[in-house]
Amino acid sequence: MPQALIEKDACDLLDADHVAVKHLFVEYARLAVAGTGADADKKALAQKICNELTVHARIEEEIFYPALRKLIDAPELLDEAEAEHQEAKDMIARIESMPAADAAMDELVSALARAVEHHVKEERTLIFPKARAAVMDLDALGQQLKQRQQELEAEMA
Ligand SMILES: [Fe+2]
Ligand SMILES: [Fe+2]
Repeated sequence: MPQALIEKDACDLLDADHVAVKHLFVEYARLAVAGTGADADKKALAQKICNELTVHARIEEEIFYPALRKLIDAPELLDEAEAEHQEAKDMIARIESMPAADAAMDELVSALARAVEHHVKEERTLIFPKARAAVMDLDALGQQLKQRQQELEAEMA
């Protein structure tokens, strides 16, 4: 069956977001380093990164983390993940309030990229394996995440 027809389970769906945003960070860094990126392009790209991360964090906080809290005995992992979300949100708010895509924005986007990379690594290596090992229906959870993701994306559009 073609990959597109296979429904993603919760972890695959979240990890696809991780990969997508990583590509956006790489694209931003390319524009910033080359110094050739028009400010408007960089600002639009930064906003796209912020929007995607905001939706991603919301679906994890509203659906994925609470479902896991009930099933896995590792509250400290989820507490740390939520604290890292808060740090990212603070950086996102600062980026969104910046009027221009100048060197300060480049630095902050780069700091956000590093923070997200660290967080994603923890989700991949510590949280997803626990989700997969717990007796939970990751396909149904993936459906819920997808539906909420589409609602939030429509709100933001
Ligand atoms: Fe995530
Ligand atoms: Fe997360």
